[in-house]
Amino acid sequence: MTTRSAHGTSSDILVLGATGKTGRRLAARLRDTGTAPVRAASRSGEVVFDWTLPDTWEPALTGAGAVYLVAPDDPSHVREFVRQAAASGVRRFVALSGHGIEKAGDGFGFGQGMAAGEEAVRESGAEWTVLRPNNFFQNFDEDLWLAPLRAGRLGLPIGEMPEPFIDADDVAAVAATVLTEDGHSGRTYELSGPRALTFAEAARTIAEAAGRPIRYEELTPAAYRSELLAEGWPEAAADGLGAMFALHRAGHSAEVTDDVRRVLGREPADLEPWARRIAAQGTWAP
Ligand SMILES: NC(=O)c1ccc[n+]([C@@H]2O[C@H](COP(=O)([O-])OP(=O)(O)OC[C@H]3O[C@@H](n4cnc5c(N)ncnc54)[C@H](OP(=O)(O)O)[C@@H]3O)[C@@H](O)[C@H]2O)c1
Repeated sequence: MTTRSAHGTSSDILVLGATGKTGRRLAARLRDTGTAPVRAASRSGEVVFDWTLPDTWEPALTGAGAVYLVAPDDPSHVREFVRQAAASGVRRFVALSGHGIEKAGDGFGFGQGMAAGEEAVRESGAEWTVLRPNNFFQNFDEDLWLAPLRAGRLGLPIGEMPEPFIDADDVAAVAATVLTEDGHSGRTYELSGPRALTFAEAARTIAEAAGRPIRYEELTPAAYRSELLAEGWPEAAADGLGAMFALHRAGHSAEVTDDVRRVLGREPADLEPWARRIAAQGTWAP
């Protein structure tokens, strides 16, 4: 997409969170297809962008006609950034949010940054699309649950409530499509994987792929919080994760949707072959 601004033609795509799980994959995908120049931004990115340092915003926005918005947990700067972006020539926003986020305001105390991102792009006057994915497969091999899986025990407060985990590659593929093709403006896509699995089933799938025992243990919310604090997590982060699981336990993200197929014309990836591929790299070896 090419737009005109006071500064001339703005055709770059500014990818925020470009070192993160979806932003990294999105920037690579956009570069592979060569549809538009990419500005890959984050605090440690090629383009320096820090939500807490507004002086970094304008240089990052220079030449951008579209933005992939990965909002911070703290919602306080989001609206002002989106206002500034629209004023500087951005005509399309794709905001990353989360499945069930519309319920997060109902006393869950979770997702304020994502909710602020949704609201800001909807009110921006520009084209907008919101992506609300489930938990990524990549939490199991790049993030939160890698260390517990390696240690052979995943303890969480989630019970039997299923979660249709999604591949971050599919989220990036959807983001690339809606950033570069018309027809998605004003839409909110709930992006799930193809199957709703419990966390215990996901841990079993990974254990089988890794060829070693990994135990799932159900924790009370209080026990989970104590474990996180004992591991050195700050209180605010432990409370944030507790709030996220409360939202999941209430079933607000459990539904399998067909929005990945609607956008990409194919089914989303399944956890099992992904787990076999990742296990073959030795990722979950003790
Ligand atoms: N993980 C999931 O399963 C999942 C599912 C649904 C929704 N989400 C949502 O997606 C968003 C990103 O989560 P993620 O798990 O994908 O995170 P991630 O992989 O850790 O990526 C976060 C990105 O944000 C950048 N970042 C962090 N602090 C920043 C700051 N102050 N200023 C500018 N950039 C900053 C990081 O890069 P630098 O460190 O270089 O700045 C990184 O590129 C969150 O809102 C999360 O709630 C996540």
